[in-house]
Amino acid sequence: MRKALLSIAAGLCAAGIVAGAAMAADMKPDDSLKYRQGLFKALAWQLGPVVGMAKGEVPFNNEQLALRASNMNAISKMLAEGFPKGSADGEIAGSKAKPEIWISAADFEAKLMALQTATAALAADAGKLSQGDLGKHVAAIGGSCKGCHDSYRNR
Ligand code: HEC
Repeated sequence: MRKALLSIAAGLCAAGIVAGAAMAADMKPDDSLKYRQGLFKALAWQLGPVVGMAKGEVPFNNEQLALRASNMNAISKMLAEGFPKGSADGEIAGSKAKPEIWISAADFEAKLMALQTATAALAADAGKLSQGDLGKHVAAIGGSCKGCHDSYRNR
């Protein structure tokens, strides 16, 4: 079994399918901007219907909620590697990432962790929620976005 898995992995490597994963550890600063902007856009897209449900503008649906929550949680885990050193506003074109991200790295990580925790909490609760309960989750998730943007994103 193990041997079979190894040979599958070797096959994928040869095909270049896992090249992305192998390279992620040293993502180039120039490549990281599109990577993280794409993730942030997807994050905002996934949050949209959740906010809509909290406001009563989108029909409340626990399955959708569970899906959106787990998608956002997955994205939050993918974001950390999108901030290699040398990719701040001023170092690469088009970024709004403040250099403080790399100066206060532990605090930046904590702010990213707040997003992970808030989206995990929604994922854990989804299925048992009613529309009235959603507001506090939206506030926690939205608060984690704002908490990081206020400190680490240029306008
Ligand atoms: C840990 C910090 C952090 C958290 C948490 C965070 N953001 Fe951001 N966000 C940033 C930074 C830094 C940028 C600027 C990236 C750049 O331009 O290099 C950004 C940029 C963005 C952008 C612009 C992307 C683009 O195309 O330029 C959007 C949209 C966005 N964030 C949405 C969100 C939403 C929605 C949440 C919460 C669900 C969130 N962010 C949480 C740090 C964060």
